[in-house]
Amino acid sequence: MLHNFGSINLDHVYRVPHLVRPGETLASHDYRIGLGGKGANQSLAMAKAGGRVCHWGRLGHQDAWARDTLSRAGVEVSRVTLVDEPSGHAIIQVDDRAENAIILFPGANHGFRRADLNKLVAGTQSGDWLLTQNECIGLDKLIPLADNHGLKIAFNPAPMADDVLRLPLSRCWLLFVNRTEAAGLTGLAPDAGPEALLDALVAQLPATEVVLTLGGEGAWYQLGDLRLHQPALPVKAVDTTGAGDTFIGYYMAALQARLPVSECLKRASTAAALAVQRSGAAESIPGLNEVEDELKGEPS
Ligand code: RIB
Repeated sequence: MLHNFGSINLDHVYRVPHLVRPGETLASHDYRIGLGGKGANQSLAMAKAGGRVCHWGRLGHQDAWARDTLSRAGVEVSRVTLVDEPSGHAIIQVDDRAENAIILFPGANHGFRRADLNKLVAGTQSGDWLLTQNECIGLDKLIPLADNHGLKIAFNPAPMADDVLRLPLSRCWLLFVNRTEAAGLTGLAPDAGPEALLDALVAQLPATEVVLTLGGEGAWYQLGDLRLHQPALPVKAVDTTGAGDTFIGYYMAALQARLPVSECLKRASTAAALAVQRSGAAESIPGLNEVEDELKGEPS
């Protein structure tokens, strides 16, 4: 079982001709509310990929539908608590070039207390995986607690912020980073090349597996001297929201199924390539049959 300590958000998605500029008032040409949150998206992707995942999260009572959506997809939700606080939400603009800009309101995602973390970790078994992102509070406590309990930690430091630099990242087995996150962790410029980013990451975290996702430039895996590259599928993106989460969920499901890293990368990249061709976060995550058809070269 993989445990995912992660955000659950209500995504308010506005399609706009361009991302709003300072001082500008801009009319959107489409608006939807859907399930999102990096944590929820990753759990959903993992379940859709056939993985076994238990989500740890908090939601306002009025939004129980989000928990039901996760449950229907096969996510174990007994550790998703309904609380008397507003749920987290995201205001997302997506422009005609598929670029996005996101404002987060953490809400219930920031309500975890130390006692909650102790209880959640106590319910796991040594050797289980713990996946997490940077949208819930308490990672400075959770990472050492989970490591001491024998959990293998996979961390996606998204959204990247200064607090990530103070976390004991050497206690993580696996890091999922995009270019911005890799640059933030290493202090390199965001336009640094993949080799420079990977060199800096291995120097900083020599024992940690790193998966570097670069959108249209593909994805890299690194552990020590070993590096693998997975090219991206050539697709036209309409909305990249949640594509990174889709990648991570599919990767972790393939890892759980003990597939080799090259296959984990291939499946994850294929799932992400399907996701970017659809609008929305959770609703853009493809099913396993679609990913397998694509891998076989059949149209889904
Ligand atoms: O990664 C995409 C997600 O980021 C969205 O679903 C939004 O909720 C934010 O958390």
